[in-house]
Amino acid sequence: MEFKEYLSLSQPELVKRIEQAKREKNALLLVHNYQPMEIQRLADFLGDSLELSRRAAQTDANLIVFCGVDFMAETAKILSPKKKVLLPDHQATCPMAAMVTAQALRAKKRQYPQALVVSYVNSRAEIKAESDLCCTSANAVKVVQSLKDREIIFVPDRHLGEYAARQTGAKLILWEGFCYVHTKFSSPDVQRARKEHPGAKLLVHPECPWQIVEQADFVASTSGMVRLAQNSPAGASFIIGTEVGLVEQLKAAHPDKNFYPLREDAVCKQMKLNTLAKVAWAIENEQHPVEVPEEVRLKAVKALEKMLSIV
Ligand code: 13P
Ligand code: SF4
Repeated sequence: MEFKEYLSLSQPELVKRIEQAKREKNALLLVHNYQPMEIQRLADFLGDSLELSRRAAQTDANLIVFCGVDFMAETAKILSPKKKVLLPDHQATCPMAAMVTAQALRAKKRQYPQALVVSYVNSRAEIKAESDLCCTSANAVKVVQSLKDREIIFVPDRHLGEYAARQTGAKLILWEGFCYVHTKFSSPDVQRARKEHPGAKLLVHPECPWQIVEQADFVASTSGMVRLAQNSPAGASFIIGTEVGLVEQLKAAHPDKNFYPLREDAVCKQMKLNTLAKVAWAIENEQHPVEVPEEVRLKAVKALEKMLSIV
């Protein structure tokens, strides 16, 4: 069936087709916390980048449908090379991951020959292949801590790097990458939100600039925020400094608690490219398969596995 025919199907019809195809093909639907709610509801596993990579490494499914962005699907393929990994929309690419090229990183390594390279998982396979270790937002501090006495080139997110450096005291050579969603947050946003919601705790993602992070009550990955919300009493209130998909998830899961986005327009356009029609088309037609050249994969997998062995 052509993609345009899926567009005329109703939501319940699409859901039925996705569920049937999942059963028939022994497929696993991995979904990131920023995905649209109608896709989050279908997830076999919903989580942050670290949890999703663990799941991808462990699954015995034949097919992984990755509802997130390109580097996540690529990570799944690196860790599970024998599985077919699908990215329903091949334009779902993280702009931050494109902010470091292998050529530029190699030049930096020549400039700092003693330094180790830690790459945020929000990076391309060839960057992971040039790295000693990977990290995610959930484990960046522990990963950097494990190398504390070494000089470290940290790519590509300068804000996550700064957060890890401040938490550990490690000497990090930062790259100039950033997430356009998290760098929207400003101090006036924090002041306004605190005034509008007195008593609410401010939870922010470590991709936020330091001037936001230093004002937060908690700093956590997306699933870290999910756990904080789960473990809070009824009536608790939170201002959420990350992409709004997570705020929607928290509101749906905890109607007895209050969640306010730090900014309503903190939307990752690339994460929102996915639709039920695309997921149904992707799983039925096994599109778009993610490929990583084997010589790149063999190097990249070492940096990812080292990360998974630390945390
Ligand atoms: P985590 O879900 O791992 O915290 O990452 C957020 C993110 O920006 C993914 O693109
Ligand atoms: Fe990339 Fe930021 Fe979107 Fe995450 S939220 S996928 S880091 S652009």
